[in-house]
Amino acid sequence: MNRVAVATFSQRVFFVVCFLSSSLAAAPTLLFQGFNWDSCNKEGGLYNSLVDSIDDLAAAGITHIWLPPPSQSAAPQGYLPGRLYDLNASKYGNEDELKSLIKSLNNKGIKAVADIVINHRTAEKQDGRGIWCIFEGGTSDDRLDWGPSFICKDDIKYSDGNGNPDTGDDFEGAPDIDHLNPRVQKELSDWMNWLKTEIGFDGWRFDMVKGYAPSITKIYMSNTSPDFAVGELWTSLAYGQDGKPDYNQDNHRNELMKWVQEGGGGVLTAFDFTTKGILQAAVEGELWRLIDPNGKPPGLIGILPGNAVTFIDNHDTFSQNLWPFPSDKVMLGYVYILTHPGIPSIFYDHFFNWGLKDQIIKVSAVRARNGISATSQVKILAYEADLYVAEIDEKIIVKIGPKDDLGNLIPQNFQVATSGLNYCVWVKAS
Ligand SMILES: *[C@@H]1O[C@H](CO)[C@@H](O)[C@H](O)[C@H]1NC(C)=O
Repeated sequence: MNRVAVATFSQRVFFVVCFLSSSLAAAPTLLFQGFNWDSCNKEGGLYNSLVDSIDDLAAAGITHIWLPPPSQSAAPQGYLPGRLYDLNASKYGNEDELKSLIKSLNNKGIKAVADIVINHRTAEKQDGRGIWCIFEGGTSDDRLDWGPSFICKDDIKYSDGNGNPDTGDDFEGAPDIDHLNPRVQKELSDWMNWLKTEIGFDGWRFDMVKGYAPSITKIYMSNTSPDFAVGELWTSLAYGQDGKPDYNQDNHRNELMKWVQEGGGGVLTAFDFTTKGILQAAVEGELWRLIDPNGKPPGLIGILPGNAVTFIDNHDTFSQNLWPFPSDKVMLGYVYILTHPGIPSIFYDHFFNWGLKDQIIKVSAVRARNGISATSQVKILAYEADLYVAEIDEKIIVKIGPKDDLGNLIPQNFQVATSGLNYCVWVKAS
């Protein structure tokens, strides 16, 4: 290589690095859950209806939208998938409508995240034993056309005993797939890569990752290279005899951290169920919960913020009333997650149906203008029953809780950027 060629090469590297760092700085990830449990019944189809809302999502600074499981499924919501390549039998719309939605989203700078339900799979036919264990992929060739030997051997209801043991929890309602089978790994990776190249998805939301080992997630991550991925590792917090969460939830958040690390880290993140559980107890007059003994946030964002997706509610916790956030405190929840580190996720209902859209957009704009990111630094200034105050990156200060007398807590050079019932966000005057 001559000197000129070397110079050209390093210049090229320089430009690529500049381009990457500036584009990353411009758009920290902000997730939107684009559906609820009832979206399968939406008139005209969810996919078509979302097309009309893209401008609102872009205004809120959304970078990624999590869409429901796209494949044919035995249940209308998509969580009992069978013919994975068949996107025309979905209750949310057909393959063409999905592709055109994603194209419109991409035009406004929003990427689509597919809900990947692979722990279990529903069969198309019964075998000679009368058991539902003959799978079909939904293509004319034999891709994903599996039989009972592809089912975990300990899922005795369905398997023929020839699969490997399950590497995680059993799912009651359908056969658990043997992810140690190399053909399973290859064909599911191929399918996910097809979702990327043919349909236009850029990221994954892994459903029920309790169902298989994190080393399996790592395989699908490296085989498919998404630009973002989040796993649903939903386990219970520790509760006291009074029915309230314990103050210390370190075991809970450490389990999430371990899952992310064993899944390979990088762009892999986990839903921060720890923050959700603590936050929804804290906003009920127990804001002292929002600091850990190290002075940091008590959820996953206090130990692994760059790989934590914070959220208030989802299609399970809210729509199915499994673990809902106190309904009169939802905006306080958003003020917390939209001003704090982690990757915030906004839920469909709260944005479209609860009249919170404008307030959410205002707080999100403060986040964007001040460059608050997943790894921003938090300095907690107050943590009383009725008052939480924190400064983030020395650029903004947020107050949550009904207490109004803040003494001298807010420096003179901070000005109110946005406020609402029991919250206020200040920014440093420039
Ligand atoms: C679904 O519909 C599209 C568009 O009409 C078509 O290209 C595709 O082959 C269909 N898929 C299946 C599995 O029928």
